[in-house]
Amino acid sequence: MTARLLDPAFSYRDQDLHAEDVKIADVAQAVGTPFYLYSTASMARQYRRLHDSLSGLDALICYAIKANSNQAVIATMKELGAGADVVSQGELLRALAAGVPASRIVFAGVGKRPEEMRLGLEKGILQFNVESWPELDALEQEAQALGLIAPVALRINPDVDAKTHAKITTGTAENKFGVTIAQAREIAAAIKGRKHLRLEALAMHIGSQLVDMTPYNSAFERMAALARELQADGHALRRLDVGGGLGIDYGKGQGPADDQVEVYAEMVRRHFADFKLPLVLEPGRYMIGNAGLMVSQVVYIKKGENKQFAILDSAMNDLIRPTLYDAHHSLVPLRQEDARKAQAYDLVGPVCETGDTFAQSAELVGLEAGDLVAFQSAGAYSAVMASTYNSRRLVPEVLVKGASWAQVRARQSFEELIAQDKLPSWL
Ligand code: LLP
Repeated sequence: MTARLLDPAFSYRDQDLHAEDVKIADVAQAVGTPFYLYSTASMARQYRRLHDSLSGLDALICYAIKANSNQAVIATMKELGAGADVVSQGELLRALAAGVPASRIVFAGVGKRPEEMRLGLEKGILQFNVESWPELDALEQEAQALGLIAPVALRINPDVDAKTHAKITTGTAENKFGVTIAQAREIAAAIKGRKHLRLEALAMHIGSQLVDMTPYNSAFERMAALARELQADGHALRRLDVGGGLGIDYGKGQGPADDQVEVYAEMVRRHFADFKLPLVLEPGRYMIGNAGLMVSQVVYIKKGENKQFAILDSAMNDLIRPTLYDAHHSLVPLRQEDARKAQAYDLVGPVCETGDTFAQSAELVGLEAGDLVAFQSAGAYSAVMASTYNSRRLVPEVLVKGASWAQVRARQSFEELIAQDKLPSWL
């Protein structure tokens, strides 16, 4: 019994798991385990499906690089036609380094520091998504110092529950994100009198991993109403930013409907087409989540009193989502062994915490020490959330395209890991 493959870029050929035309076991042989692997075809398919569903609208898909900020991934998205959504100086520099033009970069986030804003202003990015009064003031100061006009997108908090995991819900009044509709009116009015600020857009983002599209409907409605109101007050809006959040299928629980993207795009069209303004989208997970695997090896099968543990060579430091969000990442073998019987395993890593558990009592095809396996849906929020806890090194990333593959990040060396520390003069 092998779990369902969640992306058409992955398939078994002669019982060996392939990513496009690459046999993944060959990659494992060459780079060792663990490693992350991403499919270009999957990213391209996701991009095109979203892009095509928005046809006729002037929409810029700004890939949220927080989901996966490898240079090769950002460059792939750029080639497909995407801009970038960044939330820090580091991400801004990464997007620019990968060749994304500043004019296609939006800068989001609640805590942008003045020096981060300065960099964005100097580079001439498309917009700053402003989330509070003090942030607006800080942006004005930086723009004034540079003699520039800062392009402002006001991020509104529509107070709509996205019905997703509490840790990734961002659009309710309880969350730290955005400004209320009432505050937005006041801020918009204030911007009129400030010559180094220009209100260009409204923005929103209500949460991540949405599989029910109805919260978007309520949020879009509120943002559209405010946009109309601001236009009537003489604000010449130049674009509207509808954020990200589209969910993906993790192979368990409620997944998105097959036509989720089209349903979403239809909502965008219904609420915003009449404005005849360019639109910005900020999808992250949807673009790359199911394009990625994390490939690992079984180190030991350990039989406990009541349980059987498959101890892998990857751990919570490599894929933190199961322990942080109780997320499900389904495991598939790199080789289908039909003769083996299904068994229940707790899938765990070597880190010294009980939280280092990927899954409990997972029904899987029989595993043996030395087997190569892959966690699915590891393209988004996996490598980017990795740490070196337990002095485990950051692991390689591999990009596949057709029959080609390339290592796009090397395995960190122990020397690099230790060289980050410095001894003080007295030791
Ligand atoms: N725009 C803004 C302002 C955001 O805060 C986010 C994600 C996105 C766009 C992209 O959202 P997406 O399309 O990927 O859902 N680490 C968590 C997810 C955190 C999402 C944070 N913000 C996870 O692993 O589930």
